Amino acid sequence: MKKGLFKKIVTAITVGALTLSITACGKNTKGVSADGSDGALAKVKKSGKLVVGTSADFPPYEFHKEVNGKDEIVGFDIEIAKEIAKDLGVKLEIKDMSFDGLLGALSTGNVDMVIAGMTPDAERSKSVDFSKIYYEAEQTMLIRAEDKDKYTGVEALTGKKIGAQKGSIQEGIAKEQIKDSQVKGLGKITNLVLELKNKKVDGVVMETVVAKSYAAANKDLAVVNFKFQENSEEKGAAVAVKKGSKDFAEQINKTLDRLMNEKAIEKLVIDANNQVDIKE
Ligand code: ARG
Repeated sequence: MKKGLFKKIVTAITVGALTLSITACGKNTKGVSADGSDGALAKVKKSGKLVVGTSADFPPYEFHKEVNGKDEIVGFDIEIAKEIAKDLGVKLEIKDMSFDGLLGALSTGNVDMVIAGMTPDAERSKSVDFSKIYYEAEQTMLIRAEDKDKYTGVEALTGKKIGAQKGSIQEGIAKEQIKDSQVKGLGKITNLVLELKNKKVDGVVMETVVAKSYAAANKDLAVVNFKFQENSEEKGAAVAVKKGSKDFAEQINKTLDRLMNEKAIEKLVIDANNQVDIKE
């Protein structure tokens, strides 16, 4: 009886020690540690800098604004990134690129993290890891204000020229939910908005908050009164990190939890909307 107990204790200690050594330095063939980290978080901490990729054409998430005569990237995603950097105790650097280049930049290590109102769908999850969702979104369409009475439902858009950001879920919505649509995909939403104003496209599929923001800033633009169907898998925005950086995603979730518990995100959205410049 006593001997059996002794044996059990010895086994427990040995197993414990083994598990410890695996989590401490074990790497599998892909170079991913047993704790799910590939060193992306360690790299950020060591360099003292968090390099964030975004596509700053997405107000109120992220957009360009002239502050004291200087061009700056502002928005609620940027404020969230600042909080993540603060919790990590590192500096923040923002890189603006086209939306369809963001995940590649993450894989090559050009950026450490992507925050761009990005929806965590199954396809993207194959190549990156996502944090939890920090903001829910709905899908609608930006049109010319003069067409407001024309486009009362999705059917009215049949066969129309529709703009959507290249590589975004809106591109899929435009193709799948609008019958016979001729979809034009561009890297930057700012260019799609110009195409809309110049009548090269008749509408741009956009998230409701973003469409409202563009409509508020441009008197000649408006938002339709209907929404596109939601795919439950393609909802909301999350932060992306390099595949295999589970520890990094968990660290980011801690900051997001804090902000969500403080109900800070809604406030940041309002602040960001107030920063959008109105064009006459
Ligand atoms: N939520 C959409 C997606 O993930 C659009 C995001 C576009 N973001 C941007 N910063 N332009 O596909």
